[in-house]
Amino acid sequence: MTQRIILTGFMGTGKTTVGKLLAEKMGLPFMDLDEEISRCTGQSIPEFFAQWGEAAFRELESQMLREILRQERLVLATGGGTLLRDENRKLCEQAGTVVCLTCDLEVLQRRLDNKEMSYRPLLMNDNPKGTLVELWERRREVYRKIFWQVDTSSKSPQQIADTVLGLVN
Ligand code: S3P
Repeated sequence: MTQRIILTGFMGTGKTTVGKLLAEKMGLPFMDLDEEISRCTGQSIPEFFAQWGEAAFRELESQMLREILRQERLVLATGGGTLLRDENRKLCEQAGTVVCLTCDLEVLQRRLDNKEMSYRPLLMNDNPKGTLVELWERRREVYRKIFWQVDTSSKSPQQIADTVLGLVN
């Protein structure tokens, strides 16, 4: 039976942590799109951005998403920007159940400390696309399009995974 659970949401909402727990609970393989991109390119995400830029990253991200979704059973943690492309959102919605992890801005700002920021090129101080707050404001509209939403602000990863499980089962 085909069973694909796809997690989306802003950076720092816990897609990877929750995805792993959820996969374990459901007995499904877990995949993380960013990790697959790093494995395939041999570069970390910040290295890839620095060398090739965001446009190239988005192309590769979309291409790898299509490939990964050939798998019939998995929990997939996408990158926070993957579903910004309408085409990717529709693909995911056709392929399986898409769940958006949300989080209050204040909690997100606390979670995304300096170390977490350094893994994320779009949160670097010199990002021309704006600050975390600006990015968050702009993206909210896109995340709102996702039917299933789970607020992660005051829940542990285990509790979030259980909530998602309740939705998808
Ligand atoms: C991005 C989110 C990152 C990573 C890249 C771009 C985004 O993934 O794909 O830095 O545009 O929101 P996480 O959401 O796992 O941090």
